[in-house]
Amino acid sequence: MQHHKRPPASILFIFGGSGDLNYRKLTPALYNLFLDEWMPDRFAIVGIGRTEYSSENYRAHLQEGIEKFSRRKAEENGHYKEFFEHVNYLQLDAGDIASYQRITEYVQQKETEWGVHPNVIFYLAVAPQLVPSIAQELGTLNLCKDKSATRIVIEKPFGHDLESAHELNALLTGLFAEEQIFRIDHYLGKETVQNILALRFANALFEPVWNRHYIDHIQITAAESVGLEGRGGYYEHSGALRDMVQNHILQLLCMVAMEAPVSFDANEIRNKKVDVLNAIRPIRREDVHESAVRGQYGAGWMKGKQVTGYREEKGVTPQSNTDTYAAVKFFIDNWRWQGVPFYVRTGKLMHQKSTHVTIQFKEAPTFAFPSEAAESWRSNRLTISIQPEMDIRIRFQAKRPGQTMTLDPVNMTFNYEGSDDHTPEAYETLLLDVMEGDATLFMRADQVESAWKVIMPILETWETRIPQDFPNYVPDSWGPEDADALIARDGHSWINLPPEKK
Ligand code: BG6
Repeated sequence: MQHHKRPPASILFIFGGSGDLNYRKLTPALYNLFLDEWMPDRFAIVGIGRTEYSSENYRAHLQEGIEKFSRRKAEENGHYKEFFEHVNYLQLDAGDIASYQRITEYVQQKETEWGVHPNVIFYLAVAPQLVPSIAQELGTLNLCKDKSATRIVIEKPFGHDLESAHELNALLTGLFAEEQIFRIDHYLGKETVQNILALRFANALFEPVWNRHYIDHIQITAAESVGLEGRGGYYEHSGALRDMVQNHILQLLCMVAMEAPVSFDANEIRNKKVDVLNAIRPIRREDVHESAVRGQYGAGWMKGKQVTGYREEKGVTPQSNTDTYAAVKFFIDNWRWQGVPFYVRTGKLMHQKSTHVTIQFKEAPTFAFPSEAAESWRSNRLTISIQPEMDIRIRFQAKRPGQTMTLDPVNMTFNYEGSDDHTPEAYETLLLDVMEGDATLFMRADQVESAWKVIMPILETWETRIPQDFPNYVPDSWGPEDADALIARDGHSWINLPPEKK
């Protein structure tokens, strides 16, 4: 039995209640919070959608989602009934202004029933084009004037480019106070991502060497083995750079590169991160081809199964120039990172699913050792695996046992699974934070815009220059050859993570 402070009474309205995100991620996350006794003593979850559902059918639909996607397996599922007593469905046409009154009525009814004024959370799990109009309507409700109790959660993508993100921010900040707006980047909710701060700032070992004097370069890989998963309609207008680099990868980069925060205050952490984004050297349009590589997969085979090429996917135009792979080399112009390249890459249908950060240290001087010792010499490397492996590996030199001074690189590994099999999903952490009103792991307006600013020159250049070689990589590979050339020009190569032997 856990003993912790639960969040205050809350009502969660989920727009897009009959949609995929709620089915796969939000309800399973809320269910796990419920099992772990993190849900408030008094709470209600109200799915909002246009599809017709009786509350009973709606619950059955979500229960199926839990069965498929929840991290908890069947034996713990005895609590369904109890959980679903808190779940309801409101059929509502988001375009019909009058129907928003029903939200207010629902809140009033709960307030009377519970005898407390609850937190009211509006979660917009809807297509991006619907966000402005829903936010506009919600903003007119009296409820939203309560800055401390009413919150709005916005899913990614947050805008399509710098200009649209700026417009969306202007609209939202005109209707809500910044502390009411929770912009999600679900990578920030991942345990292994949060642990980057613990690793860096709770240990005396790393921080003194965490800079350009000791680090040669840094790599961030977010490789996916899945393809579009039926999301062609969305992805075709996005592409890898927008879908992964602008948000998840740049946020990982911020965690790795930020200065030590003075406190764990939400704004302090976000200030330190935004400093990193603002220090990234702008890539000049004429240099984009040297700093960034794009790719698109063709038809081929993936683990023994035939897969169609991107251009033949549903929702994709046959001449599409959308990138399904992107690699970029960034520099951060500040005292800590001057001259240290940050290589980042992401792609769909890659050989292996693996998200990891590699800190490659400079070579130690080898002169004291006999020359044969130096043959297998490898410089130190710290690898932070985010998923699916969840570990931290340090590579160092060790003497091979025997009468000669021969060295071998060896790995020391910290593995989360061994220490705790109870790892919450990102959405659990983030939903709990929303109920508690803690915005540390959410994107502030200026953060989102700074991240767009970083990638705009690449986006604009790619949009105006038609790629000549698409499709340029096959499924089950590590992406286009140009990406290898990008890093090879500096004398390095991409580091692919071998799964840790268990
Ligand atoms: C989403 C992207 O934000 O992140 C998807 O839109 C991508 O295209 C997903 O597949 C990856 O998330 P995760 O948690 O599976 O690494």
